[in-house]
Amino acid sequence: MNDKYDFKVSAAGRINLIGEHIDYCGGSVLPAAISLKNTAYVRLNGTNCINLSWSTLPDRVTLEIDKLESYKNLKYGNYQAGSALMWQRAGHKIVGCDMFMDCTVPFGSGLSSSAAIEVSTIAALATLAGENFDKVEIALAAQKAEIEFAGVNCGIMDQYASACGKKDRAMLLDCNTLHCEYLPLNLGDCTLVITNCKKPHSLVESKYNERRAETDEALAILRKYISINCLADITPQKFSEYSLMLDMPIRRRVRHVVDECERVRQSVKALRAGKLEMLGLLLNKSHESLSKNYEVTGRELDALAFAAQCHPLCLGSRMMGGGFGGCTVSLVKTSGLDDFKHYVYEKYENETGYKAEFYDVAISDGITVEKLR
Ligand code: GLA
Repeated sequence: MNDKYDFKVSAAGRINLIGEHIDYCGGSVLPAAISLKNTAYVRLNGTNCINLSWSTLPDRVTLEIDKLESYKNLKYGNYQAGSALMWQRAGHKIVGCDMFMDCTVPFGSGLSSSAAIEVSTIAALATLAGENFDKVEIALAAQKAEIEFAGVNCGIMDQYASACGKKDRAMLLDCNTLHCEYLPLNLGDCTLVITNCKKPHSLVESKYNERRAETDEALAILRKYISINCLADITPQKFSEYSLMLDMPIRRRVRHVVDECERVRQSVKALRAGKLEMLGLLLNKSHESLSKNYEVTGRELDALAFAAQCHPLCLGSRMMGGGFGGCTVSLVKTSGLDDFKHYVYEKYENETGYKAEFYDVAISDGITVEKLR
């Protein structure tokens, strides 16, 4: 592969320590880019087309650069077409090329395989065009591709983490201002364990867009009474004054947003102070709220998080990403990792019949570009 292509351009999958379903409410989130990633091998081909191929598929797809908008809903190549189109619409030149995609982020796992594909596609096109690109601009174009081409009305967290992540750093990303502070991920004698519940999920078929619409509705109602730009501006105290203006279940949705924003602030303090027990408790509370107030977990994620939380060497566990399937993140004493995995695997299988899968991931850089020849 390396001698046949000009560049190898990767973008990362991501985990999210805490701050779930608040990015599109202007909240701060705490994700990190991981070593599972999508890599685009690219070379110029002197035509007016992008020729796509994949390591996992026999299919080949050709996209004409002047007709990118016509490829919406392609079975394969939809993400790439949408990403190229959004980059083109942002005023960038798209060059004809051959692009071979190799994705190690498991699809439908809540680890942002789609963001990794979108971001690496744009970064590869910009690299081939000789651009000195801005990673944040790539993340924003990739988010537009997800919204317009994949139909998921997502926030900015996944694409931002996929593009701008840094090795060994968590990212405290303010989704309102896009200011990002990189924090050392000092977990002492603990390790983060990522576990897939193996119930596949698709955000576009899930209630993701419905939840987002509910928060938009809540914002419109609350703005009649308080001066706020986004739901994340409401403090827990203010919310207790005004919560009765909202009917159920929307009141519970906002309860989640307000409390989760507060949990992110507490988690950052705990992380800085090395108070991992406290961080673990916050993870558990986050899961509970995502399950009861936000209702984005489901039987499998609840069973998986519960199995993890029952293990004596687990400090905390919660679902991660959009929900309705996908992965959990657990904070576990490194000395008990093997025992933890066996315990969770068995308890979860007994409960649901699904065989959980564990991933060993490192915290890595977002976009990386390697010149191959
Ligand atoms: C998905 C979306 C993100 C974010 C998470 C939930 O991963 O793409 O923007 O909303 O769900 O935190």
